[in-house]
Amino acid sequence: MFITALKLKNWRNFRQAELKLARVSYLIGPNASGKSNILDVFRFLRDVCKPDGGGLQKAVKDRGGITKLRCLHHRRDPEVRIELRLSDTIDGDSERWRYVLAFKTEGKGAQRIVVTSEQVWRDDEQILDRPGSDDSRDPMLLTETHLEQTLANREFRSLVDVFSDVTYLHLVPQLLKYGEHIGGHRLEDDPFGQGFLERLAKTPKKTRDSRLNRIQAALAVAVPQFKALRFENDEMGHPHLEALYEHHRPNAGWQGEEHFSDGTLRLLGMLWSLLDGNGLLLLEEPELSLHQAVVEQIPSLIDRVQRGRKVRRQVLISTHSQALLSNPGIDPAGIAILEPSREGSKVRSVNLSEAAGLDAGLSAADVVLPQTRPKGVEQLGLW
Ligand SMILES: Nc1ncnc2c1ncn2[C@@H]1O[C@H](COP(=O)(O)OP(=O)(O)OP(=O)(O)O)[C@@H](O)[C@H]1O
Ligand SMILES: [Mg+2]
Repeated sequence: MFITALKLKNWRNFRQAELKLARVSYLIGPNASGKSNILDVFRFLRDVCKPDGGGLQKAVKDRGGITKLRCLHHRRDPEVRIELRLSDTIDGDSERWRYVLAFKTEGKGAQRIVVTSEQVWRDDEQILDRPGSDDSRDPMLLTETHLEQTLANREFRSLVDVFSDVTYLHLVPQLLKYGEHIGGHRLEDDPFGQGFLERLAKTPKKTRDSRLNRIQAALAVAVPQFKALRFENDEMGHPHLEALYEHHRPNAGWQGEEHFSDGTLRLLGMLWSLLDGNGLLLLEEPELSLHQAVVEQIPSLIDRVQRGRKVRRQVLISTHSQALLSNPGIDPAGIAILEPSREGSKVRSVNLSEAAGLDAGLSAADVVLPQTRPKGVEQLGLW
């Protein structure tokens, strides 16, 4: 299933926002325009659905409470609202589901969050409409969504599965390389890839080997002199990735991940994530640490590495990269442009003149990226 559209009210720096999603979509906008905030909507829904220790109250609390979540530009309306459309096919012709969740604070001392609306449509039939009669009999029920209650979501379990399958990746190579030395706290869901090696270790050997083979082939093209990749457990039983390089002495042996370059690790993490899991993959600035020539290929790589998979992941990318957006294969339907204003950011898709430019063979980097340049940015060098 694909998420084909998102509509927000009062979510962080968006008073209102609507965007359409393609198989691979791109969030483009200046710093602090809300790209990560959009990605967080999907992480939020995943957190609400978590079977152990999830739920609406915790998902809001983990984000600093509703006062941090609700749009500061929209003081009079206390309600946050998220609406999603989902479909079996990405072109949206066969719409199947619509999910709406709205919530606000109870307004009393306890400051609990209450659901003000939760609705589900399957094909054109509404199958959930809250608050309902049960909720009026027992208002405590409104402190939970039906997403987090197995008994209550029997009829729309497939939505819960879609939200639960969301993965977010913003791999920080240093955390992976020096994880053992840094030790300590690891964030839930491991957004920064600290537990990447453990995830590899938990994958059945056959699957792991076949994925690493594919990744090895991609790395051999992207990383000069790179020859081979393997997974090993050391004598302490700790998992490691090892690489072989052509420029080393013939018996120089394999190098452990602490010697991998940052870009190699980020590329590896991205490719693994594309092959691991079936749901929406949120990629935060995949261009980081990579050579422009490699970045240019990211949109093609996303397709290529998943070729032959039964389910190809839907991907949502935040990016600033000219190189990435210069790839001619980018689907204009998946481009969302974020434009900050005094009343919060606005989101739009490509307009007619931009579409004409793209049709004429220009790239998103030529047509769209310049629109996101902060006004007067040249002053930065003079300041
Ligand atoms: N509740 C809120 N109301 C209004 N603005 C908010 C709220 N929560 C966060 N913001 C604003 O959102 C901005 C951060 O957005 P975000 O991190 O999504 O930007 P971004 O586009 O990912 O930027 P970058 O390219 O630097 O990563 C900050 O300026 C912050 O003040
Ligand atoms: Mg960001």
